[in-house]
Amino acid sequence: MRTRILGTTGVAVNEIGYGAMHLSIDREKRPTETDSVAFLQRIVDELGINFIDTADAYCTESGETGHNERLIAKALNPARRQHVLVATKGGCVRPEGRWERDGRPEHLRAACDASLKALGCERIDLYQLHAPDPLVPVEESVGTLADLQRDGKIRFVGVSNFSLPLLEQAMKETQIVSLQNQFSVINQREEDALLAFCEANGITYIPWNPIGGRGKAPELAAHSAALEHIAARHGASPHAVALAWLLKRSPAMLPIPGTRHFDHMAQNVQAEHIGLSDDEMKELGGN
Ligand SMILES: NC(=O)c1ccc[n+]([C@@H]2O[C@H](COP(=O)([O-])OP(=O)(O)OC[C@H]3O[C@@H](n4cnc5c(N)ncnc54)[C@H](OP(=O)(O)O)[C@@H]3O)[C@@H](O)[C@H]2O)c1
Repeated sequence: MRTRILGTTGVAVNEIGYGAMHLSIDREKRPTETDSVAFLQRIVDELGINFIDTADAYCTESGETGHNERLIAKALNPARRQHVLVATKGGCVRPEGRWERDGRPEHLRAACDASLKALGCERIDLYQLHAPDPLVPVEESVGTLADLQRDGKIRFVGVSNFSLPLLEQAMKETQIVSLQNQFSVINQREEDALLAFCEANGITYIPWNPIGGRGKAPELAAHSAALEHIAARHGASPHAVALAWLLKRSPAMLPIPGTRHFDHMAQNVQAEHIGLSDDEMKELGGN
């Protein structure tokens, strides 16, 4: 697979990563632990996936915090671990299944220690603040991640669900290597300024819901006629075209599609072989 550099770290990862959330957050729909571990091993071994996104909060409720991280730890034996960069997050909690933010320094310190234990490692490759906490100044939350980095518990720091002004504030605390925000061809939020900023400042932009999220992805073509006929022209799935659109949209982009099915992930990695023309980008609404 072709590679992109994570921020300005010099660390190369393949153009298509994997988002592991759906292996954990829905008790009814998630695969068994055995199936999830086997799935993760196959996408690493057979598809070359070497960037996996997770979070301590990818679970059904607080009692099973770290569920997704523990699956990844089980799947990645030391040989695989050497080649795979694991990006986790802290700063969200799941009391009774709700999503709440907690960016207090004491929470982030405890969450980082818990993630180290769940992932079974001594240092987290990429630790992202899951979302800004409106009750805690961003410099306090990101400043805590900077302290954890100085302590050797975190290699690289990223942020998620950040606006441009917040990102600029975060950058005063430490080197920010990635920004993870919601973005896709069928959900083209006003990210132009952020994308341009990431490109200019060597920050990787990780789009979440890169193929529309679980609400729209299963029937993706129904949400865009252009996606459907461009996919037919390339003999590809609309999902792969949606990912190819992201890759062409910006050199800073690192998509992390989420799926529980090996065949779907095999389709998704085909995105790197789809060269969309400028006319096709225009038709899909990109620059
Ligand atoms: N930072 C944040 O706040 C935040 C928020 C949400 C997500 N995330 C991260 O971003 C990752 C990606 O987001 P996401 O998983 O919500 O959205 P997504 O990747 O846009 O869509 C996931 C959905 O797409 C389906 N899918 C995937 N590939 C497919 C294919 N080839 N054909 C048909 N259906 C396909 C999956 O169903 P199947 O399982 O049936 O394939 C799943 O329902 C997450 O896993 C998580 O790591 C971060």
